[in-house]
Amino acid sequence: MSSFKENDFQKIIEGRHAVHDFDPAVKINRTELTQMITESISAPSALNVQPWRIVIVDSPEAKAKIKPLMPANAHQNETASALVFFFADLKAAENAQDIYDQTVKAGKMPQEVSDHLVTIIKNVYDEMPTSALVATFTLDVALPAMQFMLIARAHGYETGPMTGFDHDKIAAALDLDPTRYVPVLLVAIGKAAQLSAGSVRLPAEKILSFR
Ligand SMILES: Cc1cc2nc3c(=O)[nH]c(=O)nc-3n(C[C@H](O)[C@H](O)[C@H](O)COP(=O)(O)O)c2cc1C
Repeated sequence: MSSFKENDFQKIIEGRHAVHDFDPAVKINRTELTQMITESISAPSALNVQPWRIVIVDSPEAKAKIKPLMPANAHQNETASALVFFFADLKAAENAQDIYDQTVKAGKMPQEVSDHLVTIIKNVYDEMPTSALVATFTLDVALPAMQFMLIARAHGYETGPMTGFDHDKIAAALDLDPTRYVPVLLVAIGKAAQLSAGSVRLPAEKILSFR
């Protein structure tokens, strides 16, 4: 994690606002996009199953192909350097063995604990109804998506999160199996042509209680 241009956490957090208008001349190279995703997927997930699948749309052809699926956000499609789709992989539990084998190999867990957890993961996720699986994995996938918005600012870029796209058609348009991959969030990234006016939050007193 040595690639941050901005390390002032307060600036990163307080300056983040959804950008709707990007500078179309700015391109972000795929090495840096990959680096930002690597940093973002340090996010936690339930049982460390890491059910995220990420598709970055940065070619003019792919952007044009999906533009009809996001009419309300067409301007971000046209101007952002890249459109980063975060999907939940409903078959992510298939990776559990690999994840826990690597954890043991790295000396971070004893074999018997790993074996126990892999069994639990298979039992829990194999028996879970699809609606519960979508809810569980959506929560997991939202975490790297949020990290990505902040990490983008640490790299000197702005973002705009979006759910305004055709959720039923986007997976197939990106050559993913729609029965397996459920869209969670789209994050546009680039340099802002125009920053938003910002937004307000209800105060903590209104939404917080202590017991
Ligand atoms: C789950 C989610 C979906 C959103 N969908 C859209 C969208 O489709 N189009 C859009 O312009 N903004 C979208 N936004 C941006 C919000 O409108 C924005 O984050 C919110 O108004 C707060 O403003 P701020 O992010 O600038 O602080 C979305 C944000 C979130 C978190």
